[in-house]
Amino acid sequence: MQALEIKKDIYWVGAVDYASRDFHGYSLCPQGTTYNTYVALDEKNVLFDTVKHGFSEVMLQRLSNVIAPEKIDYLVVNHVELDHAGALPHIIKICKPEAVFCSPMGQKAIEAHFKGWADWPLRVVKTGDSISIGKRSVHFVETRMLHWPDSMFSYIPEEKLLISNDAFGQNIASSERFADEINREVLEHAMTEYYYNIVLPYSQQVLKTLALAEELKLDIDMIAPDHGLIFRGKDDVRYALETYRRFAEQKPQKRALIVYDTMWHSTEKMAYAIAEGLNQEGVPVRIMDMKNNHHSAVMTELARCGLVVAGSPTHNNTILPYMAAMLTYMKGLRPQNRIGGAFGSFGWSGECLKILTEHLEGMGFELPVEPVKVKYVPGEDALEQCTEMGRALALALKTKCGG
Ligand code: FEO
Repeated sequence: MQALEIKKDIYWVGAVDYASRDFHGYSLCPQGTTYNTYVALDEKNVLFDTVKHGFSEVMLQRLSNVIAPEKIDYLVVNHVELDHAGALPHIIKICKPEAVFCSPMGQKAIEAHFKGWADWPLRVVKTGDSISIGKRSVHFVETRMLHWPDSMFSYIPEEKLLISNDAFGQNIASSERFADEINREVLEHAMTEYYYNIVLPYSQQVLKTLALAEELKLDIDMIAPDHGLIFRGKDDVRYALETYRRFAEQKPQKRALIVYDTMWHSTEKMAYAIAEGLNQEGVPVRIMDMKNNHHSAVMTELARCGLVVAGSPTHNNTILPYMAAMLTYMKGLRPQNRIGGAFGSFGWSGECLKILTEHLEGMGFELPVEPVKVKYVPGEDALEQCTEMGRALALALKTKCGG
């Protein structure tokens, strides 16, 4: 288990989890993930974050390649979520650091997570606080709700290194450690998947944090997140920052997502007819049915879509359960600046449109076109009505996107 030097006397000593496909119990990570940990060797040796429970031995083996674990002086807990702090009690026991640094909210989270915390040498730090570790210093920046209240960045100005915890992370398990070593489209897809399933609700905090980084004049030539690949060099740092700004701003995009579930394929036929109308007006569309797509894959697709058209038949006076779950998940992630549309088939009571519309309006989506419902099976007229709905939605989307 080799450590990797990312800056002079600063090493990646994390763990690669090739097997995981489940991230935090709610999102898929089809490419696995990593739990990145970094160690800076100086007059004081500092470890930044730990790993998920079960990966501490791998991490300790890597660490031992560059320094005996008991020679760690300081441990920085940038985030208490258990993919970074699951191994914290074990690592503290082995390393016996003289200080464990965390944010004020980090202390509260540590107290709520771990039984033995009262014996730990906790030192609370806030934005603007810094510590000297010898030739270098570590400056702390609280990043509350990016994406937990305790989240924090560690910045080493002498190395122009930002250790960013979850921010800028991607779920990629690989032997590569740097973003410039893999295909850029693969990287951006993984960044999108991560942002749209984890960070999206906190987009305002992202914009504030980017503004704060400018205000503090942080000179950065490396961003080292706690998941995935490291951005090295000014160009890749700029790319990471600009990508996050773009994700957070959520400017409308001329692309549509049709997401639906179906019983006897009536709602499905409607979905394809709506897609035809969108295509006729030159709007690219992706159709995703909820029996074959995970909700986190739908969110990843949503990143490039300014229009969401949701379909479900009426079932037992409500909508089908996969669609209810999808829309509940989507609402929690608070996408902004979207247009919506609703459609579905019904047999007798026909509540689907009311329920779908409530979900979409609940997310603040504009609904510029009357929803369409069809009794039992759509005939030619009904399908033409759906296609017309697609055309009207396309025009509304193009207007929102500025033509
Ligand atoms: Fe990677 Fe919020 O944990």
